[in-house]
Amino acid sequence: MADVAQYKRAAAERAVADFVRSGMVVGLGTGSTAIFATRHIGALIADGTLTDIVGVPTAIETADQARKSDIPLLTDDVPWEIDVTIDGADEVDPDLNLIKGGGGALLREKLVAQSSATEIIVVDESKRSDRLGMHFPLPVEVVSFGLATTQQAIEELGARVELRRAPDGEIVHTDQGNVVLDCHFGPIADLAALGANLTEHAGVAEHGLFLGLTHALVVAGASGVEVIRRR
Ligand code: A5P
Repeated sequence: MADVAQYKRAAAERAVADFVRSGMVVGLGTGSTAIFATRHIGALIADGTLTDIVGVPTAIETADQARKSDIPLLTDDVPWEIDVTIDGADEVDPDLNLIKGGGGALLREKLVAQSSATEIIVVDESKRSDRLGMHFPLPVEVVSFGLATTQQAIEELGARVELRRAPDGEIVHTDQGNVVLDCHFGPIADLAALGANLTEHAGVAEHGLFLGLTHALVVAGASGVEVIRRR
């Protein structure tokens, strides 16, 4: 476990070193790997290595960490032109497509990714997968209205669906006040078709397939840190 935390930190700090420069608007990702990047950016601002950085957080929790790290944040009332975002992922395939949303932040993460000139994903080696869906269920953020109907529609696409709950049994709500369905499809053969089918349902706010959004993957493991750029 200690190793995994070290890998996460190594990937995040390498991403900051390679991709973040003074004067940039930086998207700040969510999760236990991306948080290392946010903290590292804060430390580099504090020691004067980075200047004029502005952050765009992908979750309320991430905004809290950014404030603790004294990173100024952009507000929602100006259009974002984000230079680079550093975020985590739950599963990554060889084409750098992703499953995201294990932390429930997928809608904000996708909006920030789509507003970013460069999207960098930081992971430990356990997140790599030959085919998305092999290791992690697909999180789908849905509105509570008509929940059972939306769940049934997703089951008809071939998934076993679980409503996400906290360890105390309480239903988890996202930063938007929606709920999350964890959808066990198994290995997904046609990512684009599944994404389109999910988006078709009005009850679906967003799904956790991030297709074609990643520019580079920074992955850390026993053999070191590797930067893999999209082909
Ligand atoms: C948040 O909703 C997710 O997309 C995270 O980026 C993802 O769960 C990765 O988290 P860890 O870095 O904690 O594994």
